[in-house]
Amino acid sequence: MPSRFRSVNGMGPIEIICVAGARPNFMKIAPLMAAFKKRPEVRTFLVHTGQHYDERMSRLFFEQLGIPRPDINLEVGSASHAVQTAEIMQRFEPVVLQEQPDVVVVVGDVNSTIACALVAAKLHVPVAHVEAGLRSFDRRMPEEINRVLTDAISDFLFVTEPSGLANLKAEGVPDEKVHFVGNVMIDTLMANLEKARASRVLEDLGLEPRGYAAMTLHRPSNVDDSQVLGRVLGAVREIAAELPVVFPAHPRTRKNMEEFGYFEAGGDSLDGVRVIEPLGYLDFLRLMAEARLVLTDSGGIQEEATILKVPCLTLRANTERPVTVEVGCNQIVGTDPERILSAFRRVMETEKFECPAPEKWDGHAAERIADVLVEALAGLASGQ
Ligand code: UD1
Repeated sequence: MPSRFRSVNGMGPIEIICVAGARPNFMKIAPLMAAFKKRPEVRTFLVHTGQHYDERMSRLFFEQLGIPRPDINLEVGSASHAVQTAEIMQRFEPVVLQEQPDVVVVVGDVNSTIACALVAAKLHVPVAHVEAGLRSFDRRMPEEINRVLTDAISDFLFVTEPSGLANLKAEGVPDEKVHFVGNVMIDTLMANLEKARASRVLEDLGLEPRGYAAMTLHRPSNVDDSQVLGRVLGAVREIAAELPVVFPAHPRTRKNMEEFGYFEAGGDSLDGVRVIEPLGYLDFLRLMAEARLVLTDSGGIQEEATILKVPCLTLRANTERPVTVEVGCNQIVGTDPERILSAFRRVMETEKFECPAPEKWDGHAAERIADVLVEALAGLASGQ
């Protein structure tokens, strides 16, 4: 069956496969799809790998962010890293063979990112990696492996912050492949902030603006080890004695809290920490925007807190997003309760909080990416 894209003589639009698989991909793919849609010379084909599949981890984001319905859902679901990555590869390869795109665009650092990049590269289809160059230098993080490998086989490396440029240079990536474009996740934040102000999440939870902390926690290094999880939860309970903490829990975290006996199945509170279901994009954005501080081990949330100018304590030993620390928003506090608590107290004592936006985090990153791709691929698509 011929591809629905290809015109018979090889002349035709620039054909772009966009890949999204897990929750943090969706807010990155949304502005890209919108920017590509504005270019008459571009046709897109959206692939959802199905890495995340729960209503609250996936469909809600498509709805709220106006992402078009995926052209295909590979429905891979959850499994070990090897099985999940292999399944995505097996199911993605026929899609690329069928569609014959001019480029495959992958975002972020999840298993779907590396799996689809690898398939495309082996089929000699150019790969564009959005959010390239970030490094935690911690190879025990699955995302770090995904980042390093995806960058190594990408043809277009779209970078969010200066550290990404330095890291790629140090790894010997030629300059002409690298483009400093800003941050597509911030494009989405800026486009949705007004809408998020209409969310009723604070009222529903009975919270006052600046009167609570918002927390997320899902990194395997924090939630898969009973002792580490217990330590972090211990510190958070102490914080909750002074400032209410709201914790929309990732399914993996909730499951482990129950398994390790920290939390009763179906419960909603952990010594004053409000444990709730994962929130949709707009509710979580408002929850963050109005918080006194954010506690997280997520990558993207460090960036979002920076633009919202809400102090962020990162419950990890490192960050791959050092610009958030450099501008003064983010502190890397690890998982030692004393360090977490003393950083918390310092934040509570700070009245004036300065935090300039990182360079090019201005809401226009996806437009810049579309410009680069269209310019580079226009000749290809017209058969020149
Ligand atoms: C993945 C990404 C991580 C990202 C996170 C955001 C990788 C290696 N990790 O981690 O970088 O920060 O998404 O959420 O790709 N589950 C559900 N419903 C879902 C999805 C997952 O219940 O819709 C549960 C399952 O028990 C599953 C577990 O969460 O086994 C882990 O899911 P998985 O996709 O393997 O990794 P995440 O921890 O979500």
